[in-house]
Amino acid sequence: MRVVIQENYDKMCKWAANHIAARIHAHNDSGNTRPFVLGLPTGSSPIGVYRELVRMNQAGELSFANVVTFNMDEYLGLPREHDQSYWYFMHDNLFNHLVDMKPENINILNGMTDDPEKECRDYEEKIAAMGGIDLFMGGIGVDGHIAFNEPFTSLSSRTGVRNLTTDTRIVNSRFFGNDPEKVPSQALSVGVGTVFDSREVMILINGHNKARALAATVEGGVSQKWTCSALQQHNAAIIACDEAACGELTVDTYRYFLDIEKGERL
Ligand code: GLP
Repeated sequence: MRVVIQENYDKMCKWAANHIAARIHAHNDSGNTRPFVLGLPTGSSPIGVYRELVRMNQAGELSFANVVTFNMDEYLGLPREHDQSYWYFMHDNLFNHLVDMKPENINILNGMTDDPEKECRDYEEKIAAMGGIDLFMGGIGVDGHIAFNEPFTSLSSRTGVRNLTTDTRIVNSRFFGNDPEKVPSQALSVGVGTVFDSREVMILINGHNKARALAATVEGGVSQKWTCSALQQHNAAIIACDEAACGELTVDTYRYFLDIEKGERL
């Protein structure tokens, strides 16, 4: 596992956006006829990355014409038009601002589906039909959840319906008028196994409130209690983080990654 520590949130986002751009360019340059398949998260962590990707795209430095996206999750029961749906978030923060993103290349689970099981099965099949995900970017919950895979979700789980914990509904209530009851109690989410089948996984971890999750991801044992810890068994996993999130790492671990990744420091 790589852990790339940047000084602050802005630099973390810039590094992550540069990494995505480099992967898309390398894919296109390789003559691969398949589109580049990119997995994407919602939440506050990726907002700066999306801002930078939009800047590159509008400046003509990065094309999305050959990119297919799959989002991690969606609240069950929220229509697209709801300003807290993940469909709305993704269009508001990324897709609406890209000059050459093809709408038919955007995949987001439908939270209003009549048949959630089929919706999730179809999503897995579509990912497989696209040749799998090249790079899955993710965020992380304070309890270490990846997508909506709360603690004790199987580390081999696939896309499905998830019940949200009270903790997560409280944390996410900041977007719902600070009322946890207004946060949907269920979501559709890719599984831990879906994320870890990707050729590469990059997780963004920033801020003091994620320090325990970062330590559990990097230094703890692999455990379904911290679904993020499954990352240790992926052969191309990167954590992009800021200094603030490093507060619970041992000094040795912190120094090790600063040393080995010193060329990546922006
Ligand atoms: C939600 C999302 C996750 C995201 C997490 C953290 O629970 N389902 O995919 O990683 O929030 O969000 P934030 O980046 O706002 O801390």
